[in-house]
Amino acid sequence: MRVVMTGAAGGVGTMIRPLVRRLASELVLSDLMEIDDLVENEVSMAADLTDLSAMERLLKGADGLIHLGGQSIEADWDTVLQANIIGLHNTYEAARRQHCNRIIFATTNHVVGYYRRQQTIDHRVTPRPDSRYGASKAFGEAFGRLYADKHGLRILNVRIGNVGEKPLDIRRLAIWISPRDLTQLIQIGLTHPDLHYEIVYGASRNVRAWWDNSNAYRLGYKPEDEAEAYAEIAHQASSENPDDPITAQFQGGTFCADEFDGDVSRID
Ligand SMILES: NC(=O)c1ccc[n+]([C@@H]2O[C@H](COP(=O)([O-])OP(=O)(O)OC[C@H]3O[C@@H](n4cnc5c(N)ncnc54)[C@H](O)[C@@H]3O)[C@@H](O)[C@H]2O)c1
Repeated sequence: MRVVMTGAAGGVGTMIRPLVRRLASELVLSDLMEIDDLVENEVSMAADLTDLSAMERLLKGADGLIHLGGQSIEADWDTVLQANIIGLHNTYEAARRQHCNRIIFATTNHVVGYYRRQQTIDHRVTPRPDSRYGASKAFGEAFGRLYADKHGLRILNVRIGNVGEKPLDIRRLAIWISPRDLTQLIQIGLTHPDLHYEIVYGASRNVRAWWDNSNAYRLGYKPEDEAEAYAEIAHQASSENPDDPITAQFQGGTFCADEFDGDVSRID
């Protein structure tokens, strides 16, 4: 299986590379710049998501795509537009033209950031983006739905909480995912025989989760890691750096408080 990973030089790509390369006969690492510390079955191919021809060259002969590339936090509109709207269109259109028919899309909890922390939400809720970034990922999920239904691409959207070796604060006790659990979801996206279009949450087996991740479990996901093992250090970190009153109410955290105006009670 020839698998392409965009955004491979970023934080998540770097963490999961050693695990993901075991899932492929060839893992093509792509980012804006070439990657030079290649090992085993990795190859590098730089491509800018905003360049449709470059994305077509990248995806030629690919069986699967792990789409991590793009703007990964809040930014000005033009930055988000180029990377996550135009870039996502080019990526999916190139995949269609090159018959790369499996995509795992790194979407985000910030698609649903304005749900309150007392609510448990599943993969069917209406998006409530907390940022231009979150809204751009909601676009990505919707564009994937179009390409799945109209063109038959098989798409797994993973609404990632926070990837890391451990959860760093109280919020992340609810939303954390370990690199190996994320890799398991990617494997499901690359191999599940009945995949058409699905949304799952990228979270480990977290007892404080705000998400009903039964759709991932239905697809065979069995997370191995549990945020609660790190509860003490996470509590310690949050007590040293407490959330502001808006951040503390919503699942999206600080993204919800940034640029907020008016009365927070308008959000049910
Ligand atoms: N880190 C997390 O915990 C987390 C949480 C939720 C979602 N995500 C999503 O997962 C993905 C990876 O996150 P990350 O933390 O590694 O982000 P990152 O910013 O570290 O990496 C993103 C990579 O995309 C590349 N990129 C940006 N614009 C590009 C373009 N026009 N063409 C080609 N490459 C481009 C960057 O060079 C960078 O290496 C992102 O899509 C992000 O939205 C991450």
